[in-house]
Amino acid sequence: MALAFNKLVIATGNQGKLREIQHILAPLQIEIIPQTSLNVPDCAEPFCTFIENALAKARHASKHTGLPALADDSGLCVDALQGAPGVLSARYAGESKSDENNNHKLLQVMQNESNRHAHFYCVMVLVRHEHDPEPIIAEGQWAGEILHEYRGTDGFGYDPLFLDDKTGKTVAELPLEIKSRISHRGHAMAKLLHKLERLGA
Ligand code: IMP
Repeated sequence: MALAFNKLVIATGNQGKLREIQHILAPLQIEIIPQTSLNVPDCAEPFCTFIENALAKARHASKHTGLPALADDSGLCVDALQGAPGVLSARYAGESKSDENNNHKLLQVMQNESNRHAHFYCVMVLVRHEHDPEPIIAEGQWAGEILHEYRGTDGFGYDPLFLDDKTGKTVAELPLEIKSRISHRGHAMAKLLHKLERLGA
């Protein structure tokens, strides 16, 4: 697939996300540049919806680099917690953004809860320049259950506590190839690439 640009900044400092996005975009003939390698400062994420935060991050990265930018805003939404931690997933247990502390808090909060249904959500936003009036937007979801204990060592974030209904494995037990195909991020990215192709963007 040929794109109208040959460089793309990935607007995240999250190494887990970056690894997955790089894996999915690897077949494209473009240079993938993590925003950290261009010293893009952190972007505030003050909004209460994923889409608003993703737009802010994409515009911010494009503004600081002068390049097209792709942002992923994502999180875990737990039914019994009315969608929490949601947009606060990275900071559920505090501003230190510790996966370990977030998982520990989730286990505690869900200790006596019988409804374990949850889903991951991801929205991807691509802007071709800072003031792009037509950002390309795609979203994806992944349904599963929150376990009572950790399983697996791969991945990042809530992966060891999230059981994929279809494979019977936690995300932390799935190889990157499989996660990239069936995850919220994989679905969002597939839709985004399809849109780019259709638009010839
Ligand atoms: P963001 O950087 O504000 O979009 O927050 C993303 C947070 O959501 C991550 O730090 C994780 O806590 C959680 N998250 C998103 N996607 C995943 C995933 O694929 N696996 C595990 N946790 C995820």
